[in-house]
Amino acid sequence: MLKGSSMRWRWRWIKKHLQPPKTLIILFLTISFICSWSLMVDEQHLNGSNESITNNITILLWHWPYGTRYSLTGNVCLRDYGISGCVLVDDRTLNESADLVVFHNFELKLHREHLPVDLHRPAKQRWVWLSLEASENNGDLSQYNNLFNLTMSYHPHADITVPYGKLLQRKKPGLDFVIPQNKIYEACWVVSNYQKRHKRSAVFQELNKTLDVQLYGFFAKKILPKEALLPTISRCYFYLAFENTNSPHYITEKLWRNAFQAGTVPVVLGPPRRDYEDVAPSKSFIHVDDFKSIKALAEYLRGLTKDPKKYSAYFTWRQDYTVKLYTDWRERLCNICPIFGQLPTQKVYEDLRAWTKW
Ligand SMILES: *[C@@H]1O[C@H](CO)[C@@H](O)[C@H](O)[C@H]1NC(C)=O
Ligand SMILES: *[C@@H]1O[C@H](CO)[C@@H](O)[C@H](O)[C@H]1NC(C)=O
Ligand SMILES: *[C@@H]1O[C@H](CO)[C@@H](O)[C@H](O)[C@H]1NC(C)=O
Ligand SMILES: *[C@@H]1O[C@H](CO)[C@@H](O)[C@H](O)[C@H]1NC(C)=O
Ligand SMILES: *[C@@H]1O[C@H](CO)[C@@H](O)[C@H](O)[C@H]1NC(C)=O
Ligand SMILES: *[C@@H]1O[C@H](CO)[C@@H](O)[C@H](O)[C@H]1NC(C)=O
Repeated sequence: MLKGSSMRWRWRWIKKHLQPPKTLIILFLTISFICSWSLMVDEQHLNGSNESITNNITILLWHWPYGTRYSLTGNVCLRDYGISGCVLVDDRTLNESADLVVFHNFELKLHREHLPVDLHRPAKQRWVWLSLEASENNGDLSQYNNLFNLTMSYHPHADITVPYGKLLQRKKPGLDFVIPQNKIYEACWVVSNYQKRHKRSAVFQELNKTLDVQLYGFFAKKILPKEALLPTISRCYFYLAFENTNSPHYITEKLWRNAFQAGTVPVVLGPPRRDYEDVAPSKSFIHVDDFKSIKALAEYLRGLTKDPKKYSAYFTWRQDYTVKLYTDWRERLCNICPIFGQLPTQKVYEDLRAWTKW
């Protein structure tokens, strides 16, 4: 009796003095929710990596872009790019087991290759439309409605975005980049496809009135061998990274390789400045649109060649970034595997042409 009431008293005392305030309970519930959620995410993650070890992702490239074949022997994705669980094949008899079948648009456009529209498609298989050409140059896409599940392009809205290049943030600031000291020409331009109707040709003609522009390539009948390209361009203060088509986000190796990798300052003509700023620091290039006239641009460029301090400011970003160029189709395709789990699982492009009208 006495014992019981003393127990009850103690309980009341505990309730009164140790009852956790509501906020504490809410905090406790929140923390335990977050913990169990992160455990769940962890587990999902583990299962994911587990699956990629036991189940390879198979990517079938239906035909090679521009007709050039590359070797797929051995575990290419693992050996060359450190990507595991990713099998790249070009053997069409593997069509049943492929998770993704990739079709490069250029050969379809020229009717060199045809879409195997009668092929039996396993339920989980997805067809990928691939093009790195400016959207205007893809030909008539209306015949491909309701055929493709995914798009692969340089455009950021593609399901699989494959830029021509990108900047990699350095782990710590690097001072190993030095501006090539061999600069003797004001500007350089490598051009094969010179056409009067191109805006870039008019800009060149106008610049050439003021500046000493060195021309290389098929048009100038001065074709540079691969090994000579970067050393030659490095001798120029500026590189005319003029795209042949002005299309949103269409920024090619003219920026990444010819200008950045050569150690010169790109003068860009193509999509608007904001598209360039999405992928490169604003003080890493000079945009033609920034100037009232081409004459003003030419005067600005000449001014920079005479002012080493102002000129070198266009290289400051190199302390924080290095340039990564993508040129190998195998690398681009292997790079799908790490993002495979994030790709939309059920999707059909009902109107592919509309999609490329950005
Ligand atoms: C992970 O796999 C285990 C064992 O196959 C399974 O019990 C668990 O539900 C899976 N977890 C998730 C988040 O899919
Ligand atoms: C895969 O997951 C199972 C259980 O879900 C586990 O027993 C096994 O060790 C995992 N294998 C690897 C290679 O991670
Ligand atoms: C995954 O692909 C690699 C490389 O082709 C191969 O060695 C391995 O046996 C494959 N694993 C499975 C489970 O198919
Ligand atoms: C698809 O794969 C099957 C089975 O390997 C093969 O018989 C067929 O010829 C393949 N289709 C094409 C268009 O190559
Ligand atoms: C560029 O200007 C130079 C000197 O004025 C001229 O000789 C050359 O023909 C011009 N280049 C082109 C491709 O018009
Ligand atoms: C892929 O597209 C086809 C239409 O061509 C559709 O029937 C199929 O359900 C789609 N598959 C996936 C996985 O989205």
